[in-house]
Formats: sequence, C-alpha cells, structure tokens
Amino acid sequence: MAKVAEPKFQPVKIYSMPAPSARLNKIPPYLFAEIARIKREAIASGADIIDLGIGDPDVPTPDAVIEALCQSAKDPATHRYDESANGWPDFLKAGAEFLSREFGVLVDPEKEMAQVIGSKEGLAHLAWAYLDEGDYAIVPNPGYPVYRINAQMAGGEVFDTPLNEGNNYLPDLSAIPTEVAKKAKLFYVCYPGNPTSKPATAEFYRDLVAFCRDHDILAVGDMAYANVAYDGGKHVTLLQQPGAKEVAIEFHSLSKIFNMTGWRLGFVAGNPDAVATLQKLKSNIDSKQFPAIAEAGAYALRHVNNQATIDLYQKRRDILVSGLRELGWNVPSPSGALYVWAPVPRPDLTSAEFAGAMLKEAHIVAIPGTGYGSEGEGYVRMSLTLAGDKDGERFHEVVRRIGESGILGG
Ligand SMILES: Cc1ncc(COP(=O)(O)O)c(C=O)c1O
Repeated sequence: MAKVAEPKFQPVKIYSMPAPSARLNKIPPYLFAEIARIKREAIASGADIIDLGIGDPDVPTPDAVIEALCQSAKDPATHRYDESANGWPDFLKAGAEFLSREFGVLVDPEKEMAQVIGSKEGLAHLAWAYLDEGDYAIVPNPGYPVYRINAQMAGGEVFDTPLNEGNNYLPDLSAIPTEVAKKAKLFYVCYPGNPTSKPATAEFYRDLVAFCRDHDILAVGDMAYANVAYDGGKHVTLLQQPGAKEVAIEFHSLSKIFNMTGWRLGFVAGNPDAVATLQKLKSNIDSKQFPAIAEAGAYALRHVNNQATIDLYQKRRDILVSGLRELGWNVPSPSGALYVWAPVPRPDLTSAEFAGAMLKEAHIVAIPGTGYGSEGEGYVRMSLTLAGDKDGERFHEVVRRIGESGILGG
C-alpha cells in the first residue's frame, strides 16, 4: 500500500474567537489534565516516572468481557440507537441483580435505574438537572471534584462538609446551617471515599437519610469503589438503609470494579423520580452508548469475579504502607478503594510542595490533597494502580526511592 505522507499542521492564527462562557471561565482546568501535563514534561526530560496519580486499573479488562463485546458487536441489533427509556434493558437488569447479590438492595430496573456513560457523566449531569441559581449542593471536602465543579457551573452554590480524622471522615450533619439545608437540593457523599479511601457506617447513612427527608434533599451516594474492599471486608451502602429509596440515589460504575475505565459504563439506582429527572436531561444530550458495550457490561455484572485484581491492590497496599512506615512515614492503611491518603510528613511543606518534592527528587507522581478541596491540605494521595507493575515490585521501588531521596527530612 502506498505510504501517505504525514500532514504538516501550521499553527492556526487566532483572530477573534468568542470568549468561553463565564461559567466555564470560573473553573480551573480538570485536576488530572494539569498533572498529566507536568508528568509529560518530566518524561520528556528523560525521567523514569512512577505515576501514583490517577486511579486507573492497570490490569486489563477480563478476557470474557472482551469476548462478550465481540459477540455482541456482531449482532446487528446492537448497531442502531438504543431507544429504550433509561438504558439497555438487559444491562439494567444485570445491574439490579448485582445490587441484590452484592448488597441485598432491591431496585426495579425499569423505573429505578438508568444507564450512565461512566458515573462521572451521571454525577455531573445530576447537578445540571437539579440546580438553579441560589440552590445548594452539599459536597465532601476533600472530595471528587466533579460534584463541586458541576454544581458551580450549573449556577448553584456549594456548601462544603469537611472530612477529617476528627469526624472519622463523615460529614457532621449538625454543623450544616438550617438556611443551607433549606436551599440544598443535592447532598453528595462517596464511600469508600476518593481521595481518602475511608468507609462509611450504616449509622451515618441512616442519619443522612433522616436529614435529607427532613429537608427535602436528594442524597447522592457515589459507589465508584463498591466492591474494592480489602482483608475480606464488605462496604455498606446508602440504599441498604431503611427508607433510603424515598430520598436517595446511588451511582455505580464498572470502571474500577471490573477494570473497565475506558469503556465508560455505569448506572444509577434508587429514587424513581430522581432517576427520571436525570434521564430527562440526558435524553436531550446523549443517545446512550453502543449497545454492545452495555451487553458486555451485563456479562461482567453477572459473571466476573475480579478478586485477583483486588488481591493485587491489597498486596501493593501492604508493600507501600509497611515500607513507608519503616521509613518513619506513618501512613494509614486503606480498607478499600484505591488510595493511600497520607499526611504530609514535613511540617515545613504544603501538600503541593511535598508532591512537587516527590516528583522532583524521587520521580514519583502523587496528588496534592488540595486538588480535592481545601481540607486536603496536609495530605497527598497515592494510588494503588500502576501501569507496568506486575506483582508489587514497583511499589518496593517507590519505597526505596522515597527513602533514598531524603524528602522525608529528619
Ligand atoms: C469517587 C469517584 N466517582 C466517580 C468516578 C468516575 O468513574 P467513571 O466515570 O469511570 O465511572 C471516579 C473516578 O475516578 C471516582 O473516583
């Protein structure tokens, strides 16, 4: 075949482009986009970077799921628009089976569930579906930035619930002013948490249900790490609590639990009115996904046991946590999710300065806690996912580099 010359692009001359919307101008670049840029520069300078930044499963999607996709892709029924109300029916049915099997939660797949293009998309659009100017979203600080940023872009106000060791990383409901509660429409929570990896308790969820019922707020549980649990543990969920469906929805994602981040697939379950509200917005924006992906997702939800991947994360956790503790850096050991949420060991450095020192002196990417909110000051987040690591050997290397770099001081 004749070789086609690579096109040479000239920089486009910018004459006069319209300004982006004021709402877009208000927000910073997406956190990981900024870190990816710094990392690219370090790699271009020849450094062997160990990237403990983004939580992105490095183990491939199970073969059987890929096989299910290939089979479904050959079926012409998957080649057209998915014209269902809330998502590919068999995917939603499989999601309902998953919730029942894993958590004892019963939902009607037709009325109490909708498919989302990854939970990020659903969590973001929920803010657009609910918030008008002056309405509040209550969000965790530190927390996954998508809740806050979309609430702000949609014109809403954000009320931060500080999460720290003192409150066991659970929002203090009694500290939410009545005027805020009155104007709040959404209350986002995430357990096990990103970035802290901390678990919730059934008692907290019950209190949250009662609080949201008292103030007509929709409780939004983000379960992106639903069954990423270590030492044989199991996470509790919001929807397990009595009466939760009256005031709550929960987002689930196939990304982290089945190593499927690139597939962009998840679902929301719970209060039927909230599901319908989100779906009304979504049906004006997206036309769902390639149904073969949804069919492969249904296969994963029904048949995949991803325990070997979770065991690998646990092994990495143990290498990292025990290695850092031996160096005198006393980091907590997460019971779930993908992150070590480590207090900055140097009183003279901020989170950003310490993460900068890790990158510069040890060539390790960690995320400054402030990337997740002001309460993240004093912490860095290190992920247990790492491309190129087979069996924890690169985590030994992380410990070695941190020890030799002298960044711990003392
Ligand atoms: C807490 C939390 N929620 C939601 C997501 C989004 O996951 P996805 O859009 O891949 O389902 C992430 C991704 O990192 C996350 O950490």
